[in-house]
Amino acid sequence: MSKRKRCIDDRRSASSCRGLDRRTFLAAATGLASTSWLASTTKGAVSTPAPAASVAPETLAIEGGKPVRAKMLEAKLSGPQYYDDEERRELVEVLDNRSPFRWWGLDALGHPPDKCINFEKEFAAHQQTKYCIAVTSGTTALMTALAALEVGPGDEVILPAWTWYACYDAIVALGGLPVFAEVDESMNIDPADIERHITPHTKVIMAVHILGAPADLDPVLALAKRRKLKVLEDCAQSVGVTYKGKPVGSLGDCGIYSFQVNKTISPGEGGAVVTSDPYLFERAARFHDCGMLRTGHAQVLGQPARMQMFTSCQYRMSEFTAAVLRAQLRKLDRIVGDFHDKTTRVLAGIRDLPGISFRKQNDPEGGLGNWVFIRTSGKAQRDQFIAAMRAENVNAEPMGGSVILPIAPHIEKKQTLQPDWPSFTSPRGKAIQYGAAACPRTMEVYDRYAGIPMDPKFTDEEVADIIGAVRKVYPAVMKA
Ligand SMILES: Cc1ncc(COP(=O)(O)O)c(C=O)c1O
Repeated sequence: MSKRKRCIDDRRSASSCRGLDRRTFLAAATGLASTSWLASTTKGAVSTPAPAASVAPETLAIEGGKPVRAKMLEAKLSGPQYYDDEERRELVEVLDNRSPFRWWGLDALGHPPDKCINFEKEFAAHQQTKYCIAVTSGTTALMTALAALEVGPGDEVILPAWTWYACYDAIVALGGLPVFAEVDESMNIDPADIERHITPHTKVIMAVHILGAPADLDPVLALAKRRKLKVLEDCAQSVGVTYKGKPVGSLGDCGIYSFQVNKTISPGEGGAVVTSDPYLFERAARFHDCGMLRTGHAQVLGQPARMQMFTSCQYRMSEFTAAVLRAQLRKLDRIVGDFHDKTTRVLAGIRDLPGISFRKQNDPEGGLGNWVFIRTSGKAQRDQFIAAMRAENVNAEPMGGSVILPIAPHIEKKQTLQPDWPSFTSPRGKAIQYGAAACPRTMEVYDRYAGIPMDPKFTDEEVADIIGAVRKVYPAVMKA
């Protein structure tokens, strides 16, 4: 393709484009000029079309034209960008009190450490659940939740083929058998593909809310109820996301979160398990803490303990981690609001492009808005789009942050720590076959989407540059 003479808005004729340069249009389209149109797009009205507008014809940067930006635009990690005196004050309190361990020590006034226990109360309240247990990571949260749900050797857990290693690892670590279902165009588990994987050994459906957007929980929950299965929501990548008005993690039997540094809020590492079921809470509290139910958790349980000590693990969170998390949690809704604001404006600025379509949303209001995913015809077109966007100095990427697990070599080969691992010694464990045949649709979905990572602190000008780059690149690549 050479020398594209194109109006930014294909609905208008080339002659009408001449009077308005790209900066002028983008200023109007993104709020630099503070239009009332913008006000109408920032409250979730993503279907509002951009105003009729035009731009000087431009050659794509990948073909030698001037890039939209001089420097590459990349999204930064969200949580640490919001660090300020609140995190500092919480951390210093732990230092000054010399109380880094949640169950030991008294401050100068004789108070026990309270960062973890308070974070648990505050996070449970935020997620609208009765209980929360703070743990060291999302991976240990998954293991704790699966242990609470009594997953062990002989049990099968259905999970999406596109998710992070931890989802598979946690099932195998407990001796369970991972069984993959396809994802749909929302990149989340396809509820219609779950039932065919259910056997008499299935115990749990792991609904992962991937890349900041909720899985379609209503049909998953209905199926689980009908087939008497438990639902574990993995919200590691979706802290701050809701589904039909409810926080993710509060709809299934158990929910887990990660606070690793790529996630919405973060002290570096950390995780949490939530549930409203006292039995699951007691099992989870014991599993993450050497089989014990400490006084602090016994008080939260608020009823007599129902079980004895059992063999378990130690995944307790430190007071330092909880200190930072308490401050971050107070900012979570602001971070989500900032993501929404930027993403809504980008969508409003590009959705009128002829033929453009986006990742399917199971709840358009509930997503985090940390990505804008544009649909292409497949790998070749996706890669062209990504290369052309990067040449404009606006980052774009294929779907990331997860792995098509059935085709990961060690999973396809069912490699485990030790050859007789219980996951794969049952007849079904021996028979199960992973690999490409287990997830052809997931592989297609993966090839189709190009994503623009969003930053909650993008400036108006950066939002304008994203819109400008997509408006310049998308029509050209789609017509190529
Ligand atoms: C879907 C999902 N589940 C679980 C985890 C594990 O979280 P962590 O890295 O905190 O152990 C991750 C991490 O990225 C994840 O993406």
